[in-house]
Amino acid sequence: MQRILVTGGAGFIGCNFVHYIMGHTPLHVTVLDKLTYAGNLNSLSGLPAERFEFVHGDICDATLVESLIARTDAVVHFAAESHNDNSLKEPRPFVDTNLVGTFTLIEAARRHGTRFHHISTDEVYGDLALDEPRRFTEESVYRPTSPYSATKAGSDMLVRAWVRSFGLRATISNCSNNYGPYQHVEKFIPRQITNILDGIRPRLYGQGSNVRDWIHVEDHSAAILAILEHGEIGETYLIGADGELPNRIVVEKLLLQMGQPTDAYDLVTDRPGHDLRYAIDSSKLRRDIGWQPRFVDFDAGLAATVSWYKDNEDWWRPQKAVTESDYAGQGH
Ligand code: NAD
Ligand code: DAU
Repeated sequence: MQRILVTGGAGFIGCNFVHYIMGHTPLHVTVLDKLTYAGNLNSLSGLPAERFEFVHGDICDATLVESLIARTDAVVHFAAESHNDNSLKEPRPFVDTNLVGTFTLIEAARRHGTRFHHISTDEVYGDLALDEPRRFTEESVYRPTSPYSATKAGSDMLVRAWVRSFGLRATISNCSNNYGPYQHVEKFIPRQITNILDGIRPRLYGQGSNVRDWIHVEDHSAAILAILEHGEIGETYLIGADGELPNRIVVEKLLLQMGQPTDAYDLVTDRPGHDLRYAIDSSKLRRDIGWQPRFVDFDAGLAATVSWYKDNEDWWRPQKAVTESDYAGQGH
């Protein structure tokens, strides 16, 4: 394997993965990205031209996809519409990119016999009760609840069917909530950090009791590379770092770290259909592939993320006003 195609490489996890690949392998990387509101070329600046190429385009463009996959050894597919709140407002782009886009890529990959890794989410399994001991495993039943998670679930099913029916050489990973640098300010942690920096009180949906299972984005990147190199074709791997926390606790940690009273937040209108709790059991990945998370101290990872947003206002400032104005329109 010498050349990989990374779709959605100008987004949050995609760009972190590209930086990780540049630092940990000799691979050549081509990024294919449409540069939607969530894509940012500044996240990819400074990469060596002899090992990196950026292609501006849509994963639904079959001609473009065909020409890129013809000259690649493996595809790592991140490109997606990724935000639940947006999917409740306007689901159509989620159907187009997450379903039709994935279909377009796997059709080309099967024609060329190209190794394919599909990036997905724990949200395909629906949610768990706050008080039950159960966590998601690879055997959990698919029960998506939002337009976002339904289209991600559908894309997983397409990949599984292409493995079985056409021999597509694919693996799938379903990861929990990522945090770290280069995350769009629409998402929970960067939204609250940049709100506090701007003197706006953090906004918690509902009572702030929903639980998310946090993993540092660099641990996600390491897991993906390990699956690409050592994963078994046709297998699904859940990625998680045992990072369950209620949203209210995360906001209190941020307020404390940023020198504010820990109750200086507001409760706002809940997200319709808001999933209660996600929790990942990543035993299979740890046992079969030997992956372990490195960022096990959440407070330290959060502090580093706060510092990154303090130091990189030029990166996030252009997104902030329009994002907050969108949220105001939704009562959040
Ligand atoms: P993001 O929204 O930050 O980035 C998505 C990227 O895809 C952007 O650069 C965007 O321009 C690009 N894109 C969108 N539509 C496209 C199209 N039609 N053609 C080409 N490029 C297109 O998303 P993210 O948070 O980095 O998520 C990346 C992937 O990881 C997604 O598949 C998501 O479902 C999955 N995932 C995310 C998380 C998380 O916590 N963020 C957790 C688990 C899985
Ligand atoms: O679990 C993986 C998923 O995590 C990914 O598949 C998605 O792409 C990613 O966006 C994320 O989905 P969530 O809906 O969990 O993430 P979000 O950052 O939107 O919200 C995290 C939690 O915080 C959720 O319970 C809603 C809540 N929230 C969010 C925002 C933006 C708030 O309480 N206040 C807010 O302002």
